[in-house]
Amino acid sequence: MTSSNIYDKLKKCESCIRQITDFVPKVAIVLGSGLGDYADTIRVSAQVPYGDIEGFPVSTVPGHDGRFIFGYVEEVPVVCMKGRVHYYEGYDIGDVVLPIRLMKLLGAEILFLTNASGGVNTSFHAGDLMLITDHISCFAPNPLIGANIEELGTRFPDMTHVYDGELQTVIKAAARERHIFLQQGVYAQLTGPSFETPAEIRMLRTLGCDAVGMSTAVEAVAAAHMGMKICGISCVCNLAAGMTANPLSHREVQEAADKAAPAFKSLVTESVKNFGKM
Ligand code: HPA
Repeated sequence: MTSSNIYDKLKKCESCIRQITDFVPKVAIVLGSGLGDYADTIRVSAQVPYGDIEGFPVSTVPGHDGRFIFGYVEEVPVVCMKGRVHYYEGYDIGDVVLPIRLMKLLGAEILFLTNASGGVNTSFHAGDLMLITDHISCFAPNPLIGANIEELGTRFPDMTHVYDGELQTVIKAAARERHIFLQQGVYAQLTGPSFETPAEIRMLRTLGCDAVGMSTAVEAVAAAHMGMKICGISCVCNLAAGMTANPLSHREVQEAADKAAPAFKSLVTESVKNFGKM
């Protein structure tokens, strides 16, 4: 897909949503595995199923219910993505990040990314929450490849501070306030859908990576291109391949995410409430 096609599609998706709601969010939240029912805690103003948006990529992963939810977390206007699309589903990388770009066009200034990951850091435990301080995205295609979309951002965007320092401070304070233990570290995105081999996990650890997953970093790159303030929390659902005797399964990841969900939700709510004061 060419860059001008990507931009046209984005503007069409924007006008499609604007025919349904004029809600202007401040914070965009992407709900990863385990946080799917976070949407139930939102005071909902409008919902838009992805399938109702012309040209919008619709997820094929079982259990990934796809829609935008517009509403309020405490008094903060948010748009929530219930379900995201992953590169491994076969979409162009431009389609994978289209929802992020769309939420920015709808008014969101802050992007709150969440995901499920495998722990690479040997001091992590299954069920830990990790504040993402930086990422390694170079194992996945860069979503900015192709002619630069000038309407969105600059050709060579700086990636020194992808994850905003002030937002990280707020999240750490929120974790203290709610007595939630929070790890922090570097998240690496690989394409998936296969889990990594033990040798790949050793490589990632050598490279300074603390957790690994199949989403998020490319979304952060697209958002940073557009000048959004970004933060992210990863739910470390399992220790990565080769770190325990157990083989990895999607079901195990989902069960661990479900178990961590109450703390995860509490942390997101307390953080977003405080983002509203920024
Ligand atoms: N690897 C990659 N992605 C993941 C993992 C993992 O071990 N766990 C949850 N998502």
